[in-house]
Amino acid sequence: MSPASEASDASDAFDVLIVGGGIIGLVTAWRAAQRGLVTAVVDPAPGGGAARVAAGMLAAVTELHYGEQTLLALNLASVRRYPAFAAELSEATGHDLGYRRCGTLAVALDSDDRAHLRELHAFQRQSGLESEWLSGRDCRRLEPMLAPGVRGGLRVDGDHQIDPRRLAAALLTACERAGVRFHRTTAERLTVARDRATGLVTADGTALAAGQVVLAAGSLSGRLAGVPEGVLPPVRPVKGQVLRLTMPPGQPPLLHRTVRAVVRGNPLYLVPRESGELVVGATSEELGWDTTVTAGGVYELLRDAHELVPGITELPLTETLAGLRPGSPDNAPLLGPTALDGLLLATGHFRNGVLLTPVTGNVMAHVLTTGELPEEARPFTPGRFGTTQAPVQAPAPAPTEQPA
Ligand code: GLY
Repeated sequence: MSPASEASDASDAFDVLIVGGGIIGLVTAWRAAQRGLVTAVVDPAPGGGAARVAAGMLAAVTELHYGEQTLLALNLASVRRYPAFAAELSEATGHDLGYRRCGTLAVALDSDDRAHLRELHAFQRQSGLESEWLSGRDCRRLEPMLAPGVRGGLRVDGDHQIDPRRLAAALLTACERAGVRFHRTTAERLTVARDRATGLVTADGTALAAGQVVLAAGSLSGRLAGVPEGVLPPVRPVKGQVLRLTMPPGQPPLLHRTVRAVVRGNPLYLVPRESGELVVGATSEELGWDTTVTAGGVYELLRDAHELVPGITELPLTETLAGLRPGSPDNAPLLGPTALDGLLLATGHFRNGVLLTPVTGNVMAHVLTTGELPEEARPFTPGRFGTTQAPVQAPAPAPTEQPA
């Protein structure tokens, strides 16, 4: 469609337009609207995205990885905000978020896993994190349904969980109540004039004008047409297959806290909700835009989960789903302004989107209102990948469909 034939909605002169209505786009919209910015979200199905699949672990300590110390600081900043964030969001919407301060147990099934966990424990302690080494017997005392062969584990009482679907639904309500406008369609192209982002054209040909545009489209963020080549975020989809089992009503819970393990080199987690849902995840596959649930993926998750907690085979398997994590080159998010004036990023949260939701909302609202990134977000500027050279107009191919 040529710009001349685009319908312009004159009433739609926004302070902020957000591409993507997943939890990151929604929290950005909510916080921006709370600060008085006239805000709109463009997404065909807001409240969806990777949060529909995610287990919702808030696992800054048990999901610590070598080389990610800088990210750890941001993760911990978000952990500290979670209680107040969850209370405020529940209060604003009346929604129960399934925020459960249940802690996490990371266990080892063989001597290799045990050595790996010992290393992780040492690294956690060096990083000043709370984590307690337990014998296999003590692990089973905490979680009696664990396999008898468990060789030891780490008790981390500070790694909690939230239900990401409830979180997304609550953020949607909070946005609506704060006056955020929703355009339930696809953002087709960024519009740029005089080296500045000026708005979006949507799939139905509507031109929306805005002072600032935030690209928060998860794994799709690198594919919005009209974004200059050097400014496109280097995000890629990383597939995760996840299962949901359900405890029959009236039956006592199988697990009382999140249980994690590495089984034959594959990370595995079981996240028990108060509702009786037990989430089992997740594969990690570099397969582009593929979101097929495969027999092999389901088999491996069930096989490994059964090795960890044999009793799961009795439970109804109620859902299988695959989603796409927005991976970035250093596994950390891209937050804040780009080299194209008026275009900001909030994407690339990879394994930590749910955990980083509170801090992302605050960081983005701050930068949208002041033009300055707060100190805690400075290591996460998009410019760290050297992708922000002088903008050149070069549209990227538009996505043809929205993956899960
Ligand atoms: N944070 C869990 C996952 O990405 O699978």
